Amino acid sequence: MSHHIQLKSVCLTISRKRQYMSLTADEIIPKPKPYYDSYASHMLMFTFPYLFQPLVLLLLDITPMLPVLEGVVMELQDCALPLLREVIPTDKVDVAFKDLDAAILVGSMPRREGMERKDLLKANVAIFKSQGEALDKYAKKTVKVLVVGNPANTNCLIAAKSAPSIPKENFSCLTRLDHNRACFQVALRCGISANSVKNMIIWGNHSSTQYPDIHHCKVNVQGKDVTAFDAVKDDAWLKGEFISTVQQRGAAVIKARKLSSAMSAAKAICDHMRDIWTGTTEGEFFSMGVYSTGNPYGVPEDLIYSFPVSIKDKTWKIVDGLAINDFSRAKMDATAAELVEERDTAVSFLGV
Ligand code: LMR
Repeated sequence: MSHHIQLKSVCLTISRKRQYMSLTADEIIPKPKPYYDSYASHMLMFTFPYLFQPLVLLLLDITPMLPVLEGVVMELQDCALPLLREVIPTDKVDVAFKDLDAAILVGSMPRREGMERKDLLKANVAIFKSQGEALDKYAKKTVKVLVVGNPANTNCLIAAKSAPSIPKENFSCLTRLDHNRACFQVALRCGISANSVKNMIIWGNHSSTQYPDIHHCKVNVQGKDVTAFDAVKDDAWLKGEFISTVQQRGAAVIKARKLSSAMSAAKAICDHMRDIWTGTTEGEFFSMGVYSTGNPYGVPEDLIYSFPVSIKDKTWKIVDGLAINDFSRAKMDATAAELVEERDTAVSFLGV
């Protein structure tokens, strides 16, 4: 085996929406339209191999979509990406998940404009239970699983619960998209670049109850690190419109595009996976939805909750010792309460 291919395989589950719609469509969407968000999957695959080490991509889709997937494979080959060694399209879960190092689960029952995310919980429990079981059966026990499909936190929890032989710490859900959104909003306000905004935190659920917290944020203005409050100089905006803009951003994108975010989600996936593989810089942290049991912030156990994390040797650690004021506490508790409710509903569907 070539020594540089440490990440042997990556599985992207694309457009599983149709498969699962056929299982659960009656209750969820009376007349689902066949739908393939090629924009999302293309962007995902286009950006992903740029930011990683050499890898083999395994692309899992349902049988009727295999001809479409062939087109995606051709495009990927035609990009002549230096880090991409092989692309394997398949409709077989054992081929896709066998000895997997990293799984990116992007497929779920999608939310449409005006829909509440938790309305889709039951359908998604069925999806993520079966994906968890398949990972448990076929993937390496060291596999890192990133859940993107919504409701991402609870889907991730269900997948983790359905894969008892894989450590729960190997499962995470994407809140890096919210994190990036928050960084850019602050950067825009200050007229600086987004990478001058560090240590943003997204607490909780990847939903409109999430809490984008700027209290520990460092903003580099003209070579000097200052607090977000000092950089922005508008506390009312930071405690009001900034938070609601980030919380509502996913819905705003859906309203405008008539589809969920794609390009920005792909970029966030790259950021998230790259940080797992390469680690974070000393003193810096990012937001990730991770298993809450044993957390130092009094968040209820047995949730996938977004925390500030640092990463070393592919292992995340919740950043400890950050001061939490009453304003933050109330918002952290509100998003935790939503997750507890989602979890309890989802778990009640597990045996169904
Ligand atoms: C986003 O944040 O852009 C998406 O997760 C929104 C959604 O519900 O699909």
